[in-house]
Amino acid sequence: MAGKKKVLVLNGPNLNLLGKRQPEIYGHLSLEQINKQIRALAKELGVNVEIRQSNNEGELVTWIQEAPKQFRAIVINPAAYTHSSVALRDAITAAGLPTIEVHISNIYRREEFRKHSYIAGAAVGQIAGFGVQSYLLGLRAAAELL
Ligand code: DQA
Repeated sequence: MAGKKKVLVLNGPNLNLLGKRQPEIYGHLSLEQINKQIRALAKELGVNVEIRQSNNEGELVTWIQEAPKQFRAIVINPAAYTHSSVALRDAITAAGLPTIEVHISNIYRREEFRKHSYIAGAAVGQIAGFGVQSYLLGLRAAAELL
């Protein structure tokens, strides 16, 4: 909708499997069910959201590069790329949009390799461990920053 504040919500690899994938860690909600809750909150906040998911690092990089043309903030769950992707971090830095990193699980109480995020240093902040609420809190944070 023209004139509304626009937030891009990005999801990284394997998040298309939510609901079926390790539900003891990631819960029983599918990505579409999470997206419904994001859209409902966005409506309440008067924020226009677009939600995308990709299993492809390059596609995510391209979306982030192009984001400033259309969006004013990014909420991203980089999934496994959190722990490996200098490319995503560089894209976020280059785009220059306020970016909020979110995780469904608390990455600091899991395996050692999950405790480092390449994204955190380029983000305004990080929200981890609250399930679907991590996305909703991330969207609220983005709305405050607009
Ligand atoms: C995740 C945590 C990552 O370590 C993992 O690779 C994911 C999901 C989360 O939302 O908790 O795919 O980003």
